[in-house]
Amino acid sequence: MKYGHFDDQQREYVITQPDTPLPWMNYLGCQAYFGIISNTAGGYSFYRDARLRRLTRYRYNNVPMDFGGRYVYLRDDESKQFWSPSWEPTRTELKHYTCRHGMGYTAIQSEYVGIEAETRYFVPLDENLEIWQLTVTNRRETTAQISAFASIEFCLWDAQDDATNFQRNFSTGQVEVEDGVIYHKTEYRERRNHFAYFACSEPGAGFETQRESFLGRYRGWDRPASVEAGELKNTIAHGWSPMGAHHVKLELAAGESRQIVFVLGYHENPVDEKFDPPGSQTINKRLVKPVIAKYLDAIQADAAFEKLRVYWDGLLSVFQVDTPDIHTNRMVNIWNAYQCMATFNMSRSASFYESGIGRGLGFRDSNQDLLGFVHMAPVRARERILDLAATQLPSGGAYHQYQPLTKRGNNDIGGGFNDDPLWLIVGVSAYLKETGDWSILHEPVQYDNEPGSEQPLYEHLQRSIQYTLDRVGPHGLPLIGRADWNDCLNLNCFSDTPGQSFQTTTNKDGKVAESVFIAALFVHAGRELAAIAKHRGLDAEAARYIRETEKNVKVIADHGWDGEWFLRAYDDFGAKIGSRECEEGKIFIESNGFCALAGIGLHDGKAESAMKAVGKHLATKHGIVVQQPAYSKYYLQLGEISSYPPGYKENAGIFCHVNPWVMIGETRLGHGDLAHDYYSRINPSAREEISDLHRCEPYVYAQMIAGKDAPTFGEAKNSWLTGTAAWNYYAIVQWILGIRTSLEGLEIAPVIPKSWPGFTATRVFRGVVYMISIERKGQGNAIALTVDGEPIQGNVVPVPTDGRKEVVVNGILS
Ligand code: BGC
Ligand code: NOJ
Repeated sequence: MKYGHFDDQQREYVITQPDTPLPWMNYLGCQAYFGIISNTAGGYSFYRDARLRRLTRYRYNNVPMDFGGRYVYLRDDESKQFWSPSWEPTRTELKHYTCRHGMGYTAIQSEYVGIEAETRYFVPLDENLEIWQLTVTNRRETTAQISAFASIEFCLWDAQDDATNFQRNFSTGQVEVEDGVIYHKTEYRERRNHFAYFACSEPGAGFETQRESFLGRYRGWDRPASVEAGELKNTIAHGWSPMGAHHVKLELAAGESRQIVFVLGYHENPVDEKFDPPGSQTINKRLVKPVIAKYLDAIQADAAFEKLRVYWDGLLSVFQVDTPDIHTNRMVNIWNAYQCMATFNMSRSASFYESGIGRGLGFRDSNQDLLGFVHMAPVRARERILDLAATQLPSGGAYHQYQPLTKRGNNDIGGGFNDDPLWLIVGVSAYLKETGDWSILHEPVQYDNEPGSEQPLYEHLQRSIQYTLDRVGPHGLPLIGRADWNDCLNLNCFSDTPGQSFQTTTNKDGKVAESVFIAALFVHAGRELAAIAKHRGLDAEAARYIRETEKNVKVIADHGWDGEWFLRAYDDFGAKIGSRECEEGKIFIESNGFCALAGIGLHDGKAESAMKAVGKHLATKHGIVVQQPAYSKYYLQLGEISSYPPGYKENAGIFCHVNPWVMIGETRLGHGDLAHDYYSRINPSAREEISDLHRCEPYVYAQMIAGKDAPTFGEAKNSWLTGTAAWNYYAIVQWILGIRTSLEGLEIAPVIPKSWPGFTATRVFRGVVYMISIERKGQGNAIALTVDGEPIQGNVVPVPTDGRKEVVVNGILS
């Protein structure tokens, strides 16, 4: 069953039933001011950091689910009926309802008792605010007297503190109301120089800033007393729970439409100009007032919306494809690229499943996110790389995460995940291949954000390699540390204490447990760095990296091969993990996928055999599971992985993040049909028809789909913020469609299904538009290319040196 449909023309997903299996989310904002918004207007907003600068409240894991939002209420002042045009929170049965989630905006439209309402929510580019444009239309034959209310609940900035420190927080809340604008200024009197505001374009009939007054005692957002009464009481909050509500009265003739604009925003004042007049306790509003006035004007709001549309047109036009498969086209051209922007911005911090409190920007995560993002906004990718590298430790190791607001490593979550540093090489390499901007390697970058410790970015990459070389175990494989890509394979943890963090607990000295996955990642990253070194004329250094990668390839062959597939790891006792000798967890996806991706065992049959084994033991109709057999009990020596019931998350769930490694592996073996088949099994658009089973949004990837051992096999969880976005984008675009960036130019090497007659694509690469058309003449993957009609040798299209801005590339597959 479906709950809506794709509108590819408008680049929207249109939800037509409000009670989706789970809240179906969208993101507002793409620079510094962000929000999440559900199909029923639930969600919250923040500035830069979902933990430290939370603007509005959201109640995670509440009943009903998805609570707290950007809620509008309408009231028929004659019949006194009131309802929510976004369905939540009153859940009144609407005559019709649609929610259009688009690129950076959400528009919810509905009709009830002859009154139509549409609210369009978005964040204008380059501003720290969001706009709600509410249009109310009277579809009746007679005049209607309508009250419109808009409401939000302020968060007292630090979301963690806000949700826990009530003894203090019930006394600190402060607001100001001036010219009808509500200003939230809790803690502004002391160490903060920022505040939030909520403004309305129409002369208000009243406002409310104290939650209890708005809702009434013992009432919820579904039945606010003030809305029911049709009157707000102009309260000024002192402590408790500051909120913002505006009331506008509308008299609408038959057929008449009116638009009201609400603006919710964030503003920082210079520290020495906080108050006006100086010495008073009143917020200085001189800088913010013109901004508020600007966007309360509907014409300006429309213009800002148009700018946002043009911006997204630009971002998405960097790569567009037309294949015989609608799900491929839709995901590549619209939604997968869009999701990559969200993962780039949020890392794993704020979604319906990530509370914004627990996690900042992950080192490994953000580096991988670059794979799907760098082509859209290389300047921002560059900045991100430098920020990430500045949190690297002098040892070459990394904090696992950093806070986006402070840009400093977060010690609570620790470090010592031994794969982390290598991902920096993968990220930087993707950037270089995309942009050819070699200057980034010379940028001075601090270690651990210590002034004075600056070294060129290139040295950070060298130290990343050295970090692995310095940590080698008994078989000559890299030591795993706290964990590798699989955060839950905690081989040095041995935790038997309830509640203890698997991610920060280490009981062992870490000198025994080794990871075949890190060895494979090292081979991949080492080769990438060798190519970079070579390009810079550092031949001896390049040769050294190649020698080290070859050593690892050999160690993998000697100690990482199980006969039919690659082993996963050795535990702290030196026992094998991911071997046919194991009782459970005999075969894992990560080491097999990544070895094949890295080209390990390509020529001696190992990759072929490993991919076959993955197909046989791990592939299901809903995607490829992490391992088999699932762990049926808790293994002290394995860590969090076996803490999950079988079929969920790392314990044999379908981790959509790693499925593309197998897809890429299959393309390296020339298996286009299977690669695309695996791609389609987890493609959310291709799963739209089974929305009742899948449950998550059909327009974005989820981190996990329950595996075959789970009672809910096929059910997705943790949508939006996952490395799945970047990796699937990278797999389909660069390996299946085969339009691949390289240091030398754009490489064209499609490994597509045999049934496809070909495809066309447009790619903007280093300032040149490549118009690519691929035609299948035979059943293989050999390609003959012409560039502007001239045949070329090989499959790398060089970047034109004669100033051409458009290049026509034709490829014949035979
Ligand atoms: C999850 C992992 C995640 C980790 C982050 C674990 O509970 O299973 O997927 O990476 O937490 O800390
Ligand atoms: C999610 C984490 O964000 C990612 O870093 C990790 O690799 C996977 N979980 C697997 O554990």
